[in-house]
Amino acid sequence: QGIHIPDQTVIKKGPVSISKHNSVSAIPIHKDGLFGGVVNPNEVFCSVPGRLSLLSSTSKYKVTVAEVQRRLSPPECLNASLLGGVLRRAKSKNGGRSLREKLDKIGLNLPAGRRKAANVTLLTSLVEGEAVHLARDFGYVCETEFPTKAIAEYVNRQHSDPNEQVQRKNMLLAAKQICKEFTDLLSQDRTPLGNSRPQPILEPGIQSCLTHFSLISHGFGTPAMCAALTALQNYLTEAIKAMDKMYLNNNPNSHNETGSKAGDKDEKHRK
Ligand SMILES: *[C@@H]1O[C@H](CO)[C@@H](O)[C@H](O)[C@H]1NC(C)=O
Ligand SMILES: *[C@@H]1O[C@H](CO)[C@@H](O)[C@H](O)[C@H]1NC(C)=O
Ligand SMILES: *[C@@H]1O[C@H](CO)[C@@H](O)[C@H](O)[C@H]1NC(C)=O
Repeated sequence: QGIHIPDQTVIKKGPVSISKHNSVSAIPIHKDGLFGGVVNPNEVFCSVPGRLSLLSSTSKYKVTVAEVQRRLSPPECLNASLLGGVLRRAKSKNGGRSLREKLDKIGLNLPAGRRKAANVTLLTSLVEGEAVHLARDFGYVCETEFPTKAIAEYVNRQHSDPNEQVQRKNMLLAAKQICKEFTDLLSQDRTPLGNSRPQPILEPGIQSCLTHFSLISHGFGTPAMCAALTALQNYLTEAIKAMDKMYLNNNPNSHNETGSKAGDKDEKHRK
């Protein structure tokens, strides 16, 4: 597919080890077809318990072969001990040999002493399933609990100068537009994740930048940013509403209108 995936040749063993066991050595390796189709990248490599679930609500996440391959490839290039930690493989005397053997079976190997790529963060410990779950829960609390309206009204009170109202409303409208533009771009990210390999929409140049961010955060980053930006978008909407309300209350014209009508009535009563 046209999607840019960082070069994975470092860890691609190809059909060599497979051909030792059966005679499929003639299977071609396509440039981005994985292992010449011998191993289905959507196959589940293992299931791992979540790191963040509480007590009995332990979630288990399926980790696909494709996900393992992503973790071993740039930008992360996890080494054997880090991958073992991510996959919650118990530390064993044989120095992770069983993991190596399991990887070997699917045509992946871990070159010894490989160059560390990305720095380890807390996100490193999450598998894609849990990272996506975390982003979804973050989106949920942003949507249901984030105090957009209270903040909008609070900030508006600090900008109540009637002379600034028109300019301020234009700024809020412009901010909404920019925020939408940005969120629209992020929502077109089609980085492979879990067992999905969506068809890219964006140009390869920009998609590969978004892919890098997704790979570093295992699918957490972009949806989490979209959740935060949706909260910002809601804040801007509330700020405009609060301003319209304040403007109506302070609008000299509307005040004048009612004032003059009341005045007319008063005069009529007096007559
Ligand atoms: C794996 O990488 C981590 C983090 O870069 C490092 O601390 C650790 O020593 C490495 N382990 C091996 C076996 O190379
Ligand atoms: C990792 O962190 C160190 C120290 O903060 C920094 O100098 C280095 O550039 C970082 N490496 C990457 C790949 O971000
Ligand atoms: C009514 O409007 C005029 C200008 O349109 C303004 O000068 C005046 O202060 C307003 N009166 C009130 C009571 O707001």
